[in-house]
Amino acid sequence: MASEAAERHYSIDVGRMIDRVIEMPGHIRQAWEDAEAFSTSMPASPSRIVISGMGGSSIGGSILRDFAGRGRACDIHIERGYDLPSFAGTDTNVVCVSYSGNTEEVLGLFKEGLDRGCGVSVITSGGQLGAEAERAGVPAMIVPGGLAPRAALGYLFTPLLRAASRWGFVSMDTESLESGLGEASALIESCMPGADLAGNRALMLAKRLYGKIPLIYSGNGLLAGTAYRWKCQFNENSKSMAFCNIFPELGHNEVMAWECPERMREDLFLLMLCDGEDHPRVQKRMYTTYSLLEPLAGGAMRIESTGQDGPAGRLSRLLSTIVLGDLTSVYLAVEYGRDPTPIGKIEEIKEVLRSED
Ligand code: PA5
Repeated sequence: MASEAAERHYSIDVGRMIDRVIEMPGHIRQAWEDAEAFSTSMPASPSRIVISGMGGSSIGGSILRDFAGRGRACDIHIERGYDLPSFAGTDTNVVCVSYSGNTEEVLGLFKEGLDRGCGVSVITSGGQLGAEAERAGVPAMIVPGGLAPRAALGYLFTPLLRAASRWGFVSMDTESLESGLGEASALIESCMPGADLAGNRALMLAKRLYGKIPLIYSGNGLLAGTAYRWKCQFNENSKSMAFCNIFPELGHNEVMAWECPERMREDLFLLMLCDGEDHPRVQKRMYTTYSLLEPLAGGAMRIESTGQDGPAGRLSRLLSTIVLGDLTSVYLAVEYGRDPTPIGKIEEIKEVLRSED
């Protein structure tokens, strides 16, 4: 029988966003299997990759780029706009990712990619993109529908991971994938609705974030896209202002903004996402900056990614930090009494643009 706390959770989280986070490891396993044929049908070993996507459909590309790391054998460019970068040509694979398949920016890049002779492929649940990919005969990964795009991260990221591993740009196999999911799964287990509060890191963090604006800082390495994921999840799920920035750059500008009036600072909650593989000078900067800013902020927490070295360990550090942010954003929504799933204003804007065409 569901506990009182779990019942209260679901009475607000009506769209059951928390269940989607809980299901993420399963989505990843399934997508890894399903993506085998897709990855072999894609043009082999491109010199450059452009991943086109917006919002929840763009994060998988950022995460892939972070996972591939600085030593990656190929340029991975994430395009969140209406035009392909000028370098995109016949040596470029353009992967168009849109969960709904109806996002105008991605549809535009799909067409432009074909016109420029790029290797084009799509990841979608269907929509216009699915139909156009079929018409054009390009490789398509059709993922299960019926989710909010941001809840489909596992389905959207994993085909990219599998393709990049086939191209030799990242090292990943089924065994490493499974072991890379261990930490995220354990975290989920301890953070289920109704779980003991003392062991539920996500709910405890959400309670501390209540009434605050999260500022999420990370290094420019493995967790850069993850910091952006945290920001977007606070925006969309929690309906909260949230901002992110990365080291070392923020140490050259944003850090000065902490000299703002106290009444502004006390609403800010500093979240520092730290990874053992961050550049040693970045680690030093993060440590120094945290010590300077903690006394100025309305709250602060350092979050250390957990996992070993090597492909499985790096995946574990990445996925468990993403899952912690996802869970926290859902619990914060519930603290605010808001259903995490609806995204009214995003839909209204899309509707206005559609109706003016
Ligand atoms: O999370 C969301 O719902 C949005 O950020 C969408 O992902 C974004 O608007 C793009 O839509 P789609 O993912 O269907 O291409």
